[in-house]
Amino acid sequence: MPGTKTMTPSPQPAGDDAATTEFRLHVVRGLKQSPKHIPSRFLYDAEGDRLFQKIMACGDYYPTRAEDEIMRMQADEVIQALAGDHRQFSLFELGAGDGAKTKHLLRRAMATGRDPMYRPIDISEHVLEVLRHGLAKELPGLRFQAEQGEYFQVVQRGLDGDGPKAVLFLGSNIGNMLRQQAVLLLKSIASHMGPDDRLLVGFDRKKDPAVILRAYNDRDGFTREFNLNLLRRINRELGADFNVDAFIHAPSYDPVEGRALSFLVSTCDQTVHVPGMMQPVHFKAWEALHTEISQKYDQSMIEELAAGASLRITEQFSDSLNHFLDVVFAVR
Ligand code: AVI
Repeated sequence: MPGTKTMTPSPQPAGDDAATTEFRLHVVRGLKQSPKHIPSRFLYDAEGDRLFQKIMACGDYYPTRAEDEIMRMQADEVIQALAGDHRQFSLFELGAGDGAKTKHLLRRAMATGRDPMYRPIDISEHVLEVLRHGLAKELPGLRFQAEQGEYFQVVQRGLDGDGPKAVLFLGSNIGNMLRQQAVLLLKSIASHMGPDDRLLVGFDRKKDPAVILRAYNDRDGFTREFNLNLLRRINRELGADFNVDAFIHAPSYDPVEGRALSFLVSTCDQTVHVPGMMQPVHFKAWEALHTEISQKYDQSMIEELAAGASLRITEQFSDSLNHFLDVVFAVR
């Protein structure tokens, strides 16, 4: 009950699978931190996936539309920047999802006589199966080889393919990483790239703070529900007793750092019990739980990132509103 204190350790449900154990570990660790913080990847259970689809389709969340426009309107130029004059190349995609934007590239590549091998990588086996099915219908003849896994680990294992490779990391997913993590991932990709290989990364640009804040506080309320679902998920999967109605979604944007941050803020003094935690978790009134960072970039930040990973920029593509930037990198 909110406001009640107890010293009795909450019982830990037996029979957790590996994913639940990992989730519990991060929740327990994150709720002990100051400020409290749970890594954003835990926003994506089935309900989180469903809400994220709604976010991407909603009017206030511009990044998906902007990058889709780039891939649709500049597909030929993007393919040329990735594959040069090679007819055959491997197109890896980290966190492929529904592959909607990449399909613009694959469609044009095939229509112009190229023969790409599409190599989507995703944590979800289901997502990859849906993608395989859809592409078999939409682009018969497309060579396809999926790999299930967490993309950091897949990259560390190596990215071997026939002919030159192009690696896509779209959707400003890089924005959900701290700078250090982003450099590590780019370095790891770069270590598998030869002189003809290319990496394309989607960056959300610094822009009018009001536009950015709106994207993380959409008027349909999808982002609010997406964040609150994290508490519902902790209740559902870990048996905690968060009073979800006593938290509000409160995003912020710092134009100096270019950081959009998402917080769930407790509206009152309250106590939460999480089975497996020795002590109940106390939230003071207006205390924040940090759920996500969405880093926005300007040109010099992208150049610094590239330098940190020993990459150089070869081309870049922007949408008509200059909201988003797809940057192509080669090894130095
Ligand atoms: C997946 N990622 C790039 C999204 C972003 O913009 O940071 C996740 C998101 N969170 C709230 N809205 C969208």
